[in-house]
Amino acid sequence: MTTCNQPSTSGRVHDALARLGIASDARIVGTGADRARDVVSPVDNHVVATVRLDDSEALADAIKRARAAFFSWRTVPAPARGQLVRDIAGALRDKRDALGELVSLEVGKIYTEGVGEVQEAIDIADFAVGLSRQIGGLTLPSERPNHSLQERWQPLGPIGVITAFNFPVAVWAWNAMLAVVCGDAIVWKPSLLAPLTALATHSIVSDVARAHGAEDIFQLIIGNDVEVGEPMVADRRLPLISATGSCSMGRAVGEVVAKRLGRCLLELGGNNAATVLADADLDLASRAILFGAVGTAGQRCTSTRRLFVHRDVASDLEERLVGAYRSLRIGDPLAKGVLVGPLIVPEAVERMQQAIATAQEQGGELLTGGDKLDLPGNYIKPAIIRAPASGELPISHEETFAPILYVFEIGSLEEAIARNNEVSQGLSSAIFTRDVRAAETFLSAVGSDCGVANVNTGTSGAEIGGAFGGEKDTGGGRESGSDAWKHYMRRQTCTINYGDTLPLAQGVEFD
Ligand code: UN1
Repeated sequence: MTTCNQPSTSGRVHDALARLGIASDARIVGTGADRARDVVSPVDNHVVATVRLDDSEALADAIKRARAAFFSWRTVPAPARGQLVRDIAGALRDKRDALGELVSLEVGKIYTEGVGEVQEAIDIADFAVGLSRQIGGLTLPSERPNHSLQERWQPLGPIGVITAFNFPVAVWAWNAMLAVVCGDAIVWKPSLLAPLTALATHSIVSDVARAHGAEDIFQLIIGNDVEVGEPMVADRRLPLISATGSCSMGRAVGEVVAKRLGRCLLELGGNNAATVLADADLDLASRAILFGAVGTAGQRCTSTRRLFVHRDVASDLEERLVGAYRSLRIGDPLAKGVLVGPLIVPEAVERMQQAIATAQEQGGELLTGGDKLDLPGNYIKPAIIRAPASGELPISHEETFAPILYVFEIGSLEEAIARNNEVSQGLSSAIFTRDVRAAETFLSAVGSDCGVANVNTGTSGAEIGGAFGGEKDTGGGRESGSDAWKHYMRRQTCTINYGDTLPLAQGVEFD
């Protein structure tokens, strides 16, 4: 590894890479190298490493290897595949803190969230180990005598996984850990904003896979959209493309995959709202909203972006939130006591300031935040904007990937549900109330239209055990727990005749 403009972040990154055993990885090259890209830490905007980019040839080679690996991996019994994932969970546990620190340095998450993200990967690995002994299909009653009707789940093929910068380990793991026990190989294209975390994760899991004689089931391709992203999505040898990112990226991926009649699993933008009714526990609600809105500096797809608060408690809640925002420590994500790190790139700070300006033009009132901090790095104070009395604030329909919370007053549960559902995205939602009727209505067919709907806990921070994803422009995919594993397999319906006659279905006679 070379390139150190500042001992600060580059020294710390180098130290983390050394602890992770990848300081001399062949893809980490010197600045100015051919086909290379600098990795800039958002903590201080200094170059911390330079990474060699893959080209379309490297992609073709990765797909070829993944395909060959798939053909043998699919024959390994699922519980034995689970043993490999169990060893990955162990290896991730050993490297959790170093990898978490690298996440913090590369994408700016505070340390507890960096480590928490690796923990999320460990959790899904543990889940997948159990799943490896539970993958099973239905046996259904056949209408014909001496026949049985079964569903079997077969490995699908090598799958393509595209991940975003904000969860550079966990979202890959949601896909990869399930895919591995399902008998698939994985071609991973990480965000170009988080290649070091991808290299470190890839090295950890490849070591384990090598020990199991299955190294090639994990392929990593670091490259730009035109050279590797687009051909990867279009490649018929990848029957499933799982992609996380913006709605516009998902639309582009979805079109290409649909054209070749492949399968997509999309986890796209959110515009998540919290509703606070008049009977809510305001202390609990304000803490959940604070974490949802400013956690990960507002850069989760599940971040709380809109708040619908009953007018009877609006000024009380607003006061609590503004007080909490004013006391937030913002700065180096690895420093003790800091709750808000930097945004990923300088342009994200600009986009946040533009959104605030637009909101003000639309009649919104800035209650706190929005100031850039005079520090190297992309630091900006999380903002709260009160919507005008009309309740109309068009900018709030857009997802700005930054810590802006738009606050609206509402007068009823029905109004809050309508407002919750009025945006094009449909990922996460939350209601704060002590009234079981209101809570149940929010979770009913006439309630929230989102893939995630919570009561008395915030919009972000889902556990891995449930299926995760959203409706409408969020893309409809479901990853992680529950039965999301079915995406990574093909369903086969099998009819078995164990008699000595040939009765036909629907009573058809054909003698
Ligand atoms: C994302 O931001 O893409 O529920 C995923 C959460 C995390 C996952 C977020 N478990 O906030």
